[in-house]
Amino acid sequence: MYIRKNQRDLTRTEKKRLVDALLQVKRSGKYDEFVRTHGQYYVPDAEEGPRPAHMTPSFFPWHRRFLLEFERALQAVDSGVSIPYWDWTADRTPASSLWAEDFMGGTGRTGDRQVTTGPFAYANGNWRINSRITDGTYLTRDLGRPSDPIALPTRAEVSRALSDPVYDTAPWDSTSVGGFRNTIEGWGTGGAERWVNHNRVHRWVGGLMVGATSPNDPVFWLHHAFIDLLWTRWQRAHPRSGYLPRRRLPASDPQAGRIFSLDEPMPPWDVKPSQLMDHERFYRYA
Ligand code: CU
Ligand code: CU
Repeated sequence: MYIRKNQRDLTRTEKKRLVDALLQVKRSGKYDEFVRTHGQYYVPDAEEGPRPAHMTPSFFPWHRRFLLEFERALQAVDSGVSIPYWDWTADRTPASSLWAEDFMGGTGRTGDRQVTTGPFAYANGNWRINSRITDGTYLTRDLGRPSDPIALPTRAEVSRALSDPVYDTAPWDSTSVGGFRNTIEGWGTGGAERWVNHNRVHRWVGGLMVGATSPNDPVFWLHHAFIDLLWTRWQRAHPRSGYLPRRRLPASDPQAGRIFSLDEPMPPWDVKPSQLMDHERFYRYA
């Protein structure tokens, strides 16, 4: 049992230990394996095949296990670290200490969007991007997208999602209207509402945080720790609701074999959503 803290409450030493562990996991080659795993399971609902990770009810449990695996890799380097969470409803600007030189580093420079400050700046020699969709070996960001500004999701937008007592709804994909899962995952209805909550944060950071290889940016883990925390808040607010779908879908359902009900094991770990419902078996949020 360990604690995941709000990133804004980390001491200088705690930040340094986390950064050092991140760099060590990167150096070992393990970090890029996580990037590749995420890319491999980035299966949009317009494509064929099983969808354990995105546009799917198991968005929350799949990422919980993914973060746990990564946290174990960090803790193998330094048993005292854990993944902090970034509450983007509170720390909402590029001036936040999250983006300081001693932690995540700042936004990308004009032109190629290359991050040039902090521990993950390419020029420092410790953060080469090896697995991505497009070219380039450096980390990119475009915080807040100044050329076409977008805002991080607000507390009210998150509260609306948390107030929904239904976990997820048919057709169990990016078009599900209502339900906590898609309202947080954030496949909106178009226009300004195209990207909400979780998805909007990926867009707000920009650069490599957009798309299948988003874990290339270490802020990915802090963002997803907050998504995981929101799931625990929803569970506490609706103790009788639970994960849906509870049972395997009938073969006649177009999503049968593509999405994961409560007791269907998810790749790549063969773990059931039902085994990941209780985070307090592993950690607590401060
Ligand atoms: Cu993901
Ligand atoms: Cu994400």
